[in-house]
Amino acid sequence: MEKNFLKSNDFSRAELEEIIESALRFKNGEIPDKPLAGKSVGLVFFNPSLRTRASMQVGIYELGGNAVILEPGGTSWTLEHRDGVVMDGNKTEHLAEFVRVLERYVAAIGVRTFAHMENWEEDRTDPILAAFARYSTKPVINLESAMHHPCQSMADMMTIREKLGEKKKKVLLTWAWHPKPLPMAVPNSFALAAAQFGHDLRIAHPKGYGLDYKLLAEIKNQAEGNGGSLEIVNDVNEAFDEAEVVYAKSWGSKNFYGNAAGDIEFRTPLRNDWIVDEAKMQKSNNAIFMHCLPVRRNVIVTDGVIDSHRSVVIDEAENRLHVQKAIMTKLLR
Ligand code: CP
Repeated sequence: MEKNFLKSNDFSRAELEEIIESALRFKNGEIPDKPLAGKSVGLVFFNPSLRTRASMQVGIYELGGNAVILEPGGTSWTLEHRDGVVMDGNKTEHLAEFVRVLERYVAAIGVRTFAHMENWEEDRTDPILAAFARYSTKPVINLESAMHHPCQSMADMMTIREKLGEKKKKVLLTWAWHPKPLPMAVPNSFALAAAQFGHDLRIAHPKGYGLDYKLLAEIKNQAEGNGGSLEIVNDVNEAFDEAEVVYAKSWGSKNFYGNAAGDIEFRTPLRNDWIVDEAKMQKSNNAIFMHCLPVRRNVIVTDGVIDSHRSVVIDEAENRLHVQKAIMTKLLR
């Protein structure tokens, strides 16, 4: 079995389905035992969080374990991840020591490390997450890295199943305007998981905002191999037709990677069209509205949509707790 939980396609569809079944049992109170009794889990946050941090800490407690939360550069030393570097700058400790020390204390390590948004070729290799996985002999759980957010996408798949049943759905992942370029981890992982679960996936984005080509090829393979499909559209007015799930997210353009000002200028005319509003939702097939949160109201989505009865964003956030308990139980039992 795979030791780590870094991205969903390290696991088969059957294994992912098993995680969701287990998460549903946790949610229904059917798994009362404490698989983490006497164990600690390290949670390393390079970046801010509400949902991930709170749901992991609560989940570890409910499984009988203890969470050790570290914030490099805040409550722990600043960290270097590059090999062979002369550490005469502002980094105090190397991941080589940090991870190998931490793993002597804990049963698993969760890590949040966003894309730096400076060098695309570097970010797409997920360098910091990869270093944690390389140095740790204990399971590493990705709590959002430069390229993937698999705990989020598993909660998303669980939410779709809860709300709409097990059969494949017409799922729209739509780009939305945001005042600054954001990382691609959430759209990458949502699209990948939707493909692995065999949904008919449509990705809508303006020209210039395509996802990673290699990942798109994997998403297409997964969709076709699991009875689904992949369609990419650049016209927001056609995107919502027939959709049963609308998942909104903003992300930055690879064309302007490391040039936030250029991206911000390029996207300026997209603002009015690329927002999820009531008129677009009415074109859908009574779709549920999803977003990973945090979300900027009346920028990504209107109040009318996020406050409507078709919005499932709070349930989606709750499901992070249940799915992460299922993942930790699978890795650590
Ligand atoms: N969706 C999500 O990961 O939320 P946080 O950034 O608050 O953890």
